[in-house]
Amino acid sequence: MKKEASERSSFSGKFGYVMAAAGSAVGLGNIWRFPYLAAKYGGGIFLLLYLVLSVTIGYTLIVSESALGRMTRKSPVGAFSSFSKKPISKASGWINAIVPMLIAPYYCVIGGWVLKYFVEYCKGSVHELADDAYFGNFIANSGSVELWFIVFAVVTLFVVFTGVTKGVERVSKVVMPLLVVIAVLIAGYSMTRPGALEGVKYMLVPNFKNFSIMTVVSAMGQVFYSLSIGMGILYTYGSYLKKDVDIENSTNQVIAFDTAIAILSSLMIIPAVFAFAGGTPEALNAGPALMFITLPKVFDSLGFGAIGGMLFFILVLFAALTSSISLVETSVSTFEDELHLSRTKSSILMGVITIALGTLSALGFGVLDMIHLPHIGSILDIFDFLTNSIMMPIGAAATCFLIIKVVGTKKIEEEVSLSSKFRFKKMYDVLIKYIIPVCLIVVLLSSIANAIGLIEI
Ligand code: PHE
Repeated sequence: MKKEASERSSFSGKFGYVMAAAGSAVGLGNIWRFPYLAAKYGGGIFLLLYLVLSVTIGYTLIVSESALGRMTRKSPVGAFSSFSKKPISKASGWINAIVPMLIAPYYCVIGGWVLKYFVEYCKGSVHELADDAYFGNFIANSGSVELWFIVFAVVTLFVVFTGVTKGVERVSKVVMPLLVVIAVLIAGYSMTRPGALEGVKYMLVPNFKNFSIMTVVSAMGQVFYSLSIGMGILYTYGSYLKKDVDIENSTNQVIAFDTAIAILSSLMIIPAVFAFAGGTPEALNAGPALMFITLPKVFDSLGFGAIGGMLFFILVLFAALTSSISLVETSVSTFEDELHLSRTKSSILMGVITIALGTLSALGFGVLDMIHLPHIGSILDIFDFLTNSIMMPIGAAATCFLIIKVVGTKKIEEEVSLSSKFRFKKMYDVLIKYIIPVCLIVVLLSSIANAIGLIEI
């Protein structure tokens, strides 16, 4: 049955909300994606742009999505249609709502890879993992990838099934602070290796020679991905938010936490790339493979091998798990609200979708490797591209449009002001009306240009 607003479960308070939102934001995007993009797109200059974009555009969109969620007490589809009954409005809500349903399956596949690496380090396979061919052989072994994927997916589904406050909050409260401690330890170790200082400089000091339009485009895409914007997630979390929780302040904390983890992750990985692989352009350009290929080599040569690897991969595992929980939770909540299914039925439906679509991605490097698009890649890359590069900017643009044309910035200001001073009201207005829509179009067009091979991202 449809839940009434009063029955809707809610976060116990601000700490729970911030931890859950940060738990969604901090994930593979921070630990695996941010360092490889930063390595590739100029280190310090990428970081500088990322910081500027996250406190302007990131801030504005998180505030908007959370406020709309709290105002309507609905997940994205309900939130959009409670303002306008036009079909376009419902469709805009669904664009936001479908994204997490498509990301969750392949996210669980990568979660499975991380789980496999963690287990291998527990078994002490430090030298084996450091072998050049290890990662490639592993992902080509469809049976093994499928198995680890299913374990990761089942854990995620179990946590979601136990309910939002009980599940997400309990996991996040323990995991997130622990994550910071482990990240600081590894980054400290990595930065003090001989030769690592060059890497620290590369990462922290902006060098304008490394600037290009692709630095802006990739930094912006990463802001969306990393903060879980444009995917309906923050609507859903906002809908669980009590009226007295300070949205503005919580947003700032989530951004600070997410960015801190991204920087820490870079400081674990990039100085080590300089210390152990000489910081050559090839090493810095390793791309998505950086974490799975370069880092095990680093652990192997570091001498604290198995323990380092275990610590690192357990950190990644926890971060990936809280993000996948948020993806599945949002989807289950959409099914409950829009299809009027019980929580149990919604969870089962999402379980079936996750296993079915995830299996396609899991097998895409092995038995299904003939399915491959030029400029995009395997099945997993196709899902990643479709969601992050096409649907996500459209979803975020729909939110902007809803606010500008239908709800009005005044209403958002009122909602945010219920519990916050909203000091950045003016900046918010300018960004949501003019700057963000233009930026979204730039991201969308450059993604499409990249997909058809016009530019290289
Ligand atoms: N933001 C998460 C990360 O950085 C990924 C994610 C994307 C999670 C979309 C939820 C929704 O890994």
